[in-house]
Amino acid sequence: MVLLYHFWQYRAYFSVRYCLNFLNRNRQIFVYSNKRGQKKKPMIDLRSDTLTMPDLPMLETILQAKLGDDGRTDAKGRGEDATINHLEDMAAALVGKEAAILMPTGTFGNSTAIMTYCKAGDTVLVDEEQHILLTEKFVFDPGFGRLTPVCYHQDSRHMPDPAEIDRLLTETGAKLICLENSHNFSGGYCIDLATMAEIRKVADKHGAAIHLDGARLFHAAAGLGVTAAEICQYVDSVMFCVSKGLGAPVGSLLCGSWDFCGKARGTRKLLGGVMRQGGVVAAPAIYALEHNVERLQEDIDNARLAHSMLQGKLKKVGLQEEVQTNILMLNLTNAGILAGEFCARAKEKGLFIRPVRNEYRARLVFYKGITRQDAVDAANIILALDSEL
Ligand SMILES: Cc1ncc(COP(=O)(O)O)c(C=O)c1O
Repeated sequence: MVLLYHFWQYRAYFSVRYCLNFLNRNRQIFVYSNKRGQKKKPMIDLRSDTLTMPDLPMLETILQAKLGDDGRTDAKGRGEDATINHLEDMAAALVGKEAAILMPTGTFGNSTAIMTYCKAGDTVLVDEEQHILLTEKFVFDPGFGRLTPVCYHQDSRHMPDPAEIDRLLTETGAKLICLENSHNFSGGYCIDLATMAEIRKVADKHGAAIHLDGARLFHAAAGLGVTAAEICQYVDSVMFCVSKGLGAPVGSLLCGSWDFCGKARGTRKLLGGVMRQGGVVAAPAIYALEHNVERLQEDIDNARLAHSMLQGKLKKVGLQEEVQTNILMLNLTNAGILAGEFCARAKEKGLFIRPVRNEYRARLVFYKGITRQDAVDAANIILALDSEL
């Protein structure tokens, strides 16, 4: 029996190794070649931090994970998977909330939160460039969530204006405000603590709840130089992703009070989001929270380095004023070229980026595995392209 157990462990170990080799082999797809077919440098892939790959120590945690059925719950609503429970406790503590729930994705976490607060026909305040509104869409879809979005705007510092939120809450009677920090489509800008506190005051005045899409919450914390809990003290619930810059392969956490999370567990079940022996997902997520939070600063430094190389040197391509986190947005409105064509030319030079939101914006995202030299090379490619326009 013991021998069989060891055989199984080693089998699983080599499967992990096999998977890792497979992932690395597939990366070679992104090695581009010059006209004579000789291999050149690997493609610098800055399309998104969702490309972050799990490393071997992270994958090995799966083998040791204590598993159980997360769908079989006790009186407190907690499941039987010890690894998920450990992750949820850890996540709640990190953001300063009572409880947390593991979600398959960020979209699932945001949708679960919003459908826990609202019923069909309710109005929700979102900003006009918010991921929930533009990409996820589920809660506002007339065939699914059937909620009505009312948009607030970002000010010149890319932050919500509490006075506008106050006015919209008065006009619409909405009882939920959605924020995003850091903000993806604006170029990774953060909402500072003073503004978060003001929005909290406005929400309390109207008896409204605040849900934070913190897909990149820990980037925002690093960018603002505060803790995640300091940001989250002003919101009722927060979703953060471990599958982005934190480097885990799958997963997001929805955090809030015991009461809210209890209700949200019910919504998650309705939506089909219970993941049974989800400890295989939770174990790498725990590893990510233990090992990869502090290193996010490296990504921010790399984004800032690329920005500093471009600032004041671009003739036609527009650049966001400041880099606050790991995203750098290019503005092609006055470049005489659409983002699709610009990105295609960048790819020919070895930089893989994509248009974002419309044909006038392209996004560079820095993450684990992208080096300082990659940041320098990426900036040089943008400079070369700009000089050719
Ligand atoms: C700001 C923001 N929120 C939510 C999500 C959704 O996360 P997921 O892709 O895990 O559904 C993303 C994904 O990129 C995002 O950028």
